[in-house]
Amino acid sequence: MAATISVIGAGYVGLPTAVLLAESGYKTYLIEIDAGRLNAIRKGRSFFYEEGIDALIEHSLQTEKLIPTDSYEVAIPKSDFIFSCVGTPDNPDGSPNLSFVFAAAEESLKYVPKKTIFIQKSTVPVGTGQKIVQLLNRKRNKHIDYVSSPEFLREGTAISDSLWPDRIVIGGNKRVAEKVLGLYKSIEKNRDKIVSRIGIVSPTGHPTNYFLTSLNSAELIKISSNAFLALKISFANSIAKLADHTGADITEVMDGVGTDRRISRAFLNAGRGYGGGCFPKDVSGLISSANEFGVDIQIMTAASDVNESMPGYIARKAQTKLSSLTGKRLAVLGLAFKAGTSDARRSPGIKLANILSRNGAKVSVYDPKANHEAEADLRSGITISNSLDKAIRGTDAIFIATDWPEFIELDFKKVKDLMRGSLIVDAMNALNENAVTHAGLQYTGIGRY
Ligand code: UGA
Repeated sequence: MAATISVIGAGYVGLPTAVLLAESGYKTYLIEIDAGRLNAIRKGRSFFYEEGIDALIEHSLQTEKLIPTDSYEVAIPKSDFIFSCVGTPDNPDGSPNLSFVFAAAEESLKYVPKKTIFIQKSTVPVGTGQKIVQLLNRKRNKHIDYVSSPEFLREGTAISDSLWPDRIVIGGNKRVAEKVLGLYKSIEKNRDKIVSRIGIVSPTGHPTNYFLTSLNSAELIKISSNAFLALKISFANSIAKLADHTGADITEVMDGVGTDRRISRAFLNAGRGYGGGCFPKDVSGLISSANEFGVDIQIMTAASDVNESMPGYIARKAQTKLSSLTGKRLAVLGLAFKAGTSDARRSPGIKLANILSRNGAKVSVYDPKANHEAEADLRSGITISNSLDKAIRGTDAIFIATDWPEFIELDFKKVKDLMRGSLIVDAMNALNENAVTHAGLQYTGIGRY
């Protein structure tokens, strides 16, 4: 008989994980304590935008393999495996807040059956697993195995990333890790059937690597992967500033640099910097957990500083082109932290809009999916537009802050007619410059012109 699974937390990691396990034939309890999120899932909808996920939720509810609940007491006693996928927001000092991680373990502990495997998917500082193992060992009459199996999916491509992962990492006892690996292999076996329901195109030539490691190594693989990607972006942004001063084109530069297979082109796109629920907090989390061990990871402090500087740098660049920002009518397109998601946490587009507004500009903003999510973080006085046309009408300059296809493929002749000025600031370096200039508009990117 197929195993029964509990997934704790229906967030950006937990929900795709639960749905894919359910679609692979496992009875999967999805424990979510937020009533709004739970109700949405029960109606077959995710609380965030992610391509394909609603269709999979709906199907797994129909087959009764996915059981959304707010009750640990209902789910945990029946579970052979428990995936913990709760949030790890950062504290004001940059250290990760692990209260949800420990609460999920404590709460599970109350109801675990005699034997179960607890799998940590939340991103935690190295050493956290050892502390949780101590906590789980308190129940001497039960046997709970603990492994770390960090998640590498990206928002916006969560389903495809989970079905075709670059690697699966499981840290802990090898015998236990093999059992957990069996769950991932079963998702892999079912993936053609799963994608046929949502029409996601499968990537070709994409082998998955499997790493069974120690607990601490698994935790550190996850945090180091995100830190290194953040580092690459900040490196590209540092070189972009130099390119701006020297007339080089950062895209050409990084194309040239990135074709060295030792480096790779990925995550070398300069622009308004990284945002979201992962990179900013994982970088500050790494710095603070290293500090606890007396290790100073200066390289990550520098990466974070460069990232923080980018929205202001872009505003200053526009100010030079426009003489002044005061009284200018400006549109920021893109409030999600990247295309393909409605997530607006730590969004560079929001930061940029706020800086422009603080400098006296009249700012309108628009995002196809994240207007609502962005609202609370936008300065008062910024106008949230419910259409792209409304956002750009009568503006002196437009800033592209997220590479949504509808922004990249804009009809710039029409844009010119709607604007009163002519400056297009490509804060993603994603536009076709010729399409902009041929329409009679002025183009500027980051590290290019
Ligand atoms: C990131 C990692 O890529 C995932 O592997 C990881 O599982 C996830 O964090 C997590 O820890 O949960 P995600 O935050 O969804 O995924 O988004 P990314 O696609 O990595 O983008 C992060 C930010 O970097 C975005 O704001 C994006 O616009 C920016 N970025 C990305 C750049 O500025 N330049 C680039 O070249 C690439």
